[in-house]
Amino acid sequence: MDTQSHIRNFAIIAHIDHGKSTLADRLMEMTGAVAHRDMQAQLLDSNPIERERGITIKLAPVRMIYSPSTMNSDMQYAIRDTQKTPYVLNLIDTPGHVDFGYEVSRSLAACEGALLVVDGTQGVQAQTLANLHLARNNNLTIIPLINKIDMPHVRIEETKDALVDLGFAREDILCISAKTGEGVSAVLDTIITRIPAPHGNPNDETRALIFSSQFDTHKGVVIFVRVVDGAVPGVFDANTMLHFCIGGMDVSPIEVGYFMPKMVASSGGIPCGGTGYIATGLKDVRLAKVGDTVTIKNLALKIKHDVVVKPLEGYKEPKPMVFVGLFPIDSDEFTKARESMEKLQLSDSAFTFRPISSMALGNGFHCGFLGLLHAEVVQERLHREFDLSLLATSPSVEYLLRLTTGVHAGKIGLQSPVTYEEKEYFSIQSASEFPDLTYIEEVREPMMNVTIFSPKPYVGAVMQLVQEKRGEYIDLVYAGEQATFTYLIPLSEMIVDFFDKLKSMTEGYASLDYEFFDHQPVECVKVDILVSREKVDALSFLIYKDHAHTRGKQIVERLVEVLPRQQFSIPVQAAIGADIIARADIKPFRKDVIQKLYGGDRTRKDKLLQKQKKGKAKMKMVGSVEIPQTAFFDVLRNR
Ligand code: GTP
Repeated sequence: MDTQSHIRNFAIIAHIDHGKSTLADRLMEMTGAVAHRDMQAQLLDSNPIERERGITIKLAPVRMIYSPSTMNSDMQYAIRDTQKTPYVLNLIDTPGHVDFGYEVSRSLAACEGALLVVDGTQGVQAQTLANLHLARNNNLTIIPLINKIDMPHVRIEETKDALVDLGFAREDILCISAKTGEGVSAVLDTIITRIPAPHGNPNDETRALIFSSQFDTHKGVVIFVRVVDGAVPGVFDANTMLHFCIGGMDVSPIEVGYFMPKMVASSGGIPCGGTGYIATGLKDVRLAKVGDTVTIKNLALKIKHDVVVKPLEGYKEPKPMVFVGLFPIDSDEFTKARESMEKLQLSDSAFTFRPISSMALGNGFHCGFLGLLHAEVVQERLHREFDLSLLATSPSVEYLLRLTTGVHAGKIGLQSPVTYEEKEYFSIQSASEFPDLTYIEEVREPMMNVTIFSPKPYVGAVMQLVQEKRGEYIDLVYAGEQATFTYLIPLSEMIVDFFDKLKSMTEGYASLDYEFFDHQPVECVKVDILVSREKVDALSFLIYKDHAHTRGKQIVERLVEVLPRQQFSIPVQAAIGADIIARADIKPFRKDVIQKLYGGDRTRKDKLLQKQKKGKAKMKMVGSVEIPQTAFFDVLRNR
């Protein structure tokens, strides 16, 4: 087994919810990788949040053994000469959400082929195209599949037409139901006949690409590799070490093996063209960078590996795009929060954080995420896996500032300039870093290149929404009943209910895909919120100048609703610098807890005072005004 000619490496790519994980489940079941009784829906979605939400976040590789004897009889002709040798099918399931697009590109680099799954009731969607494009750029052999043919509303012929328009031959399109298993055995056979065996030279120095990693408490950092040349031995003796070509370190691995789909050690190692894992024993996932190349150093041979082994082309590092302040609700949990974030980062290197402090919210963390979904998933994990209750500030993006000539950057807290179009800029990722407007010559904001797919009847609605979101029109093309828009839209606008609005305006039919385009100039201001004339720093936000009044007014009104009344009237204001742009007042109210008890029972009185004292712990003082934690929650959540 495991001769190179009998290995197939493939990914499953699709738009979200089109059935990748379900198909992966069927393939595993049919090849016996998982016995039917152990089958749990969406087995590769290992994280509980993934299972609950039905989305794949981290790619999961699995090795399946497929023997020709189990093959469909009508396919026997294709494998006549190798009938007795089983095939090794290495499947890499990929995430469907745009936030995790970088995971898709990593998996594709480890494969020769891809199954493109299209939901026959939905047709081709934005990410079908985006993923297809990625797969073609990686020169993969693509097998188009129409899924969900068991559904009554499936539109097979229409979907075939759309796939033919994308350059596929009609006779190459397979129709399946990943749910019932109909047509899936033909998929296995097609993988073997159409997807090429891996190239690579088994006699060359070993080069294996790290395409993902995870952290295991016992085995340390476990890297997922695709062996491109040479092989990885199953056992490392005293003379052999695993060498990271870019990272530069040498380690003696604890274990080598395959995903079946659980980790299973293999004394035979990973052959040329194969995929598997290496448990490195390293304690920090950041040392073993995804995209690095590993090789085998034979200490006895004294070969200069850094000279002999040229690293494979790696991947771009995922770059955080959305920033959120996370503050422990209980200020005693700061250390616990930091330790939890450190641990979480071991399995999610795209998540970044650094400590910050806020007058209103105390000590917390400035956190970077790939997108809003990623931010939500991390917060949920911190809550569930680490039992942390955190307050999140509203999300922000990365702005680039050019300062007025003569302004000393260090004095206004800005450091490490970046060069953009030959000029010096400073990057800021939150409202608190934004200096006085008089210091600023120019602000640039991140623009996304957005593709929106929508059925024809909703074209007007989509255009209206995008206009509200300051979108810049690039293109609109029709293919049958489908319209495909291309726009440039500011990321800051996309992270405020863009997706929800798009879905509701198109009755759920529109889909979108986006990627970073560029930083473009914007007229941006910082709006401060003042309670009793004191700035509440956690509520400040950056916004496009013309939207400042409306948003400022909304927040002021919301605060007046949720803040408890005090014994005096309190003004709540929104301001840009010294200019007040909105104001509302909280009316006074007298509250005397003890009076209600008519003297009487002493213990009852004590209990009540105790309770009130405890309640105070959850309050934040802003000047002379106490703001309950719940008010922050409410305003930040409903922004
Ligand atoms: P992401 O990982 O979130 O991108 O989704 P996915 O593409 O992996 O989709 P998944 O396999 O989770 O399927 C989405 C939904 O479609 C689930 O509710 C499945 O049960 C359902 N589904 C998948 N395949 C079929 C099918 O062939 N027929 C029917 N009727 N439902 C299916």
